[in-house]
Amino acid sequence: MSRTVKVGILGLGVVGAELVNIIKANQENMLKKYGVNVEIGKVYVRDLSKKRATDTSDLKLTNNAYDVVYDNEIDVVCECMGGSGTEETKDYVVKAIEHNKSVVMSSKKVLALYGNEILQLLKEREVSLRYDATVGGGIPITKIIKECFKGERIEKLVGILNATSNFIYTRMEKDNMSFEDALKKAQKLGYAENDPSEDINGFDALYKAVILTLFSMKKWVDIKTLSTTPFSNIDVLDMKYASELGYKIKPLAIVENRESGIRYRLGPCLIKENHIAANTVENYNIIVFKGSNTGVLGFYGQGAGSKPTASAMFDDLVGIIGSDGAGSDGLLRETYRDITSVENVNENKNNLYWRMDVENIVGKLALICTILAKNSVNIEKVIQKDEIEGKIGVVLLTSNADSTTISKIIDEFSENHIEIRTILPFLGE
Ligand SMILES: NC(=O)c1ccc[n+]([C@@H]2O[C@H](COP(=O)([O-])OP(=O)(O)OC[C@H]3O[C@@H](n4cnc5c(N)ncnc54)[C@H](OP(=O)(O)O)[C@@H]3O)[C@@H](O)[C@H]2O)c1
Repeated sequence: MSRTVKVGILGLGVVGAELVNIIKANQENMLKKYGVNVEIGKVYVRDLSKKRATDTSDLKLTNNAYDVVYDNEIDVVCECMGGSGTEETKDYVVKAIEHNKSVVMSSKKVLALYGNEILQLLKEREVSLRYDATVGGGIPITKIIKECFKGERIEKLVGILNATSNFIYTRMEKDNMSFEDALKKAQKLGYAENDPSEDINGFDALYKAVILTLFSMKKWVDIKTLSTTPFSNIDVLDMKYASELGYKIKPLAIVENRESGIRYRLGPCLIKENHIAANTVENYNIIVFKGSNTGVLGFYGQGAGSKPTASAMFDDLVGIIGSDGAGSDGLLRETYRDITSVENVNENKNNLYWRMDVENIVGKLALICTILAKNSVNIEKVIQKDEIEGKIGVVLLTSNADSTTISKIIDEFSENHIEIRTILPFLGE
């Protein structure tokens, strides 16, 4: 005997339209495989007259989202909105859950900002929340977390979570482009939005890091307490010099699971050239976990795009339908219960890459070394570059310096006319 599951959709942009296509293409299969007749109920859009990237002749469009979230016949709501309406989107998700609908989410920003509030609601209700499309595009990362790490403590995560920045870094490294030109190219190819600020300032990657922390480490850190270093804070010379030192510069998110809380670092970072993340290029993402027993595991794939994202949403939808209709989902419920709120750990010790310009006169390199030694900072590697317009470049790696010492060194360099061009963290392992 077959049953019917009605799906409501919020948003019919590039992801929503693809989701409609995938649902329609799989309706027969779903009936055969699961005995479920998947019907699209109502679809919310802002502008009813806009041309859509999918056939809408058989869809019930509405410009009132509450027509979808309050519809008693709808079992599952798929949110493909996001955009600027963050609070509005959160409100629809909350209302849908309060009206006993399971929800498939796509908006990382909404989940990263309001995840704790949404999860509190879920604790009391027999509905599910799935969110695989929010992180890593086509990489089924939340399903891997849910199914595969039952006996593991995830100790660390290193990820390239923003496809736009990774594409830009790849163009800088391979084609010698400036950050600005590479960004223009990304926009031309559709890899970057007209307003790319969330991507290049690191916020998009931060939202994803918070979501991954929530579900892999079961810890919630208030995103307002976190900061990022813009991914735009580098130039091509840094990439060349990093390579001479045996490193690549990547737009990284690093999350460490400490007893005292979570340590987040988001921004450009040097990573050893043989690390799997150093070799993740173009618009690809990678998520590398270090488990207490598994050791290092990496998950690689396309981080964005309407098709991989809609595919992840459809898979979530099938997951909900397959788990007793739109109903209970024991394992996820356990996950919601386990989550605790913790603080961000601001660790003081830093491993740093420095690039400086100094006048080409005898004793300048010795002076740099003396200032560092006087402040008990260890130099791991140093290279001196050719003279350009009377200045020579000095590049070095220092380890384990605290923030106060670093500030002091910066002041002393300035007093001695040593011009700092770049300071970046590096990952030692
Ligand atoms: N595109 C990707 O590669 C990708 C990847 C991962 C996750 N996502 C997430 O998927 C969601 C949808 O992305 P998209 O690329 O499909 O976006 P989009 O093309 O801009 O479509 C957004 C849809 O939501 C509707 N909408 C209703 N209220 C809105 C509001 N206040 N602000 C913005 N849109 C509103 C829009 O209606 P109208 O069409 O009538 O204006 C439109 O149909 C976002 O949360 C995004 O973060 C996207």
